[in-house]
Amino acid sequence: MEPGRNVAVFGAYGHTGRFVVAELRERGHVPLLLGRDRDKLLALAQTRPGLEARQASAEDPASLDRALNGAAAVINCAGPFASTAAPLIEAALRAGIPYVDVAAEIEANLDTFAHFAEPARAAGTVVVPAMAFYGGLGDLLVTAAMDDWTSADEAHIAYGLSSWHPTTGTLASGTVSGRRRGGRRIRYTGGRLEHHDDALPTLDWRFPAPLGPQRVIGEFTMADVVTVPSHLAIPEVRTYMAAKAAADLSAPDASAPTAVDERGRSAQTFVVDVIVRSGGTERRIAATGQDIYAISAPLAVEAVDRILTGRTTTTGVASAGALFDAPDFLRALSPHLSLHTPATDHQQPANLT
Ligand SMILES: NC(=O)c1ccc[n+]([C@@H]2O[C@H](COP(=O)([O-])OP(=O)(O)OC[C@H]3O[C@@H](n4cnc5c(N)ncnc54)[C@H](OP(=O)(O)O)[C@@H]3O)[C@@H](O)[C@H]2O)c1
Repeated sequence: MEPGRNVAVFGAYGHTGRFVVAELRERGHVPLLLGRDRDKLLALAQTRPGLEARQASAEDPASLDRALNGAAAVINCAGPFASTAAPLIEAALRAGIPYVDVAAEIEANLDTFAHFAEPARAAGTVVVPAMAFYGGLGDLLVTAAMDDWTSADEAHIAYGLSSWHPTTGTLASGTVSGRRRGGRRIRYTGGRLEHHDDALPTLDWRFPAPLGPQRVIGEFTMADVVTVPSHLAIPEVRTYMAAKAAADLSAPDASAPTAVDERGRSAQTFVVDVIVRSGGTERRIAATGQDIYAISAPLAVEAVDRILTGRTTTTGVASAGALFDAPDFLRALSPHLSLHTPATDHQQPANLT
């Protein structure tokens, strides 16, 4: 991206928004601090001298238009996205600028594809939902693992989180999504999303060293079931969550993440282990890093960089894997992510026991 471009961040004072603002500044861009609460915005702006704060509300389109004035792109970090995605996308389309969000709400991501594919294409711009840890990173990894395959039988994405201290936004989004699906569970099988009430299975997943085997919850369905099938012909897309992290998330006394380093990251570590299978052959890739909220910032900002410098494949609504050169994108994240690519095209060894 050309240095000094204004990039609006809606929800700038939220936990993820702050990481995004910092990442934009590190790359020499000028974040515009957007949010609905004037006091929180001003408090943030006081600690980031030189940055402009603009109050705007998802319920007030004119305020969004004013807030996006002069922005080259907008990153929406304000969730639950059931309330914010559509108004922000509409404002971005009116302004003729790209829109990127970090939504991990399956229903909100589906809505974005369903309602904005045509308007975004007609506007000649891009809308990228789930451009974050969940939905974005898994999609990039699946796309990279596929390599020259255009279809596969199955994709498995296993999340090996050391712990999960959720933010208020994460918990609120989970509640909204749960309500929207009538309290039912969801999975992607047979080439479509299916609601169900089955108990979730617990399995052992062999993560790459040093993590090794871990108990995981199967069909712990994340936004990858929207992003991956949006562009890859894979009828079975399954996501798994480390049992310990799943327990942290649902604990009645779940606590927010606490910073342990100068970047504000928590001590949480992650492995995202991806396997794609076609016929009798499987391909595998894994990524490791620290703090699922912090890593969402370089993911979203790298996306904006690539969009503004024309390193994209299409217009309209597109997931990370569809829009970008996935292996190149992942390599660009090397300061934040380590990639592990075991030999490919081996006969299926069972990763699950
Ligand atoms: N896909 C991923 O991997 C990923 C990664 C990170 C975050 N996320 C998602 O991003 C969202 C934010 O997470 P977070 O960790 O930053 O949570 P957070 O620290 O609780 O921040 C939430 C932010 O959203 C704002 N917000 C909520 N509802 C709003 C509305 N209707 N209008 C305007 N602003 C609103 C909040 O503003 P107020 O303080 O004024 O309420 C706050 O700025 C969550 O939905 C989370 O699930 C997803």
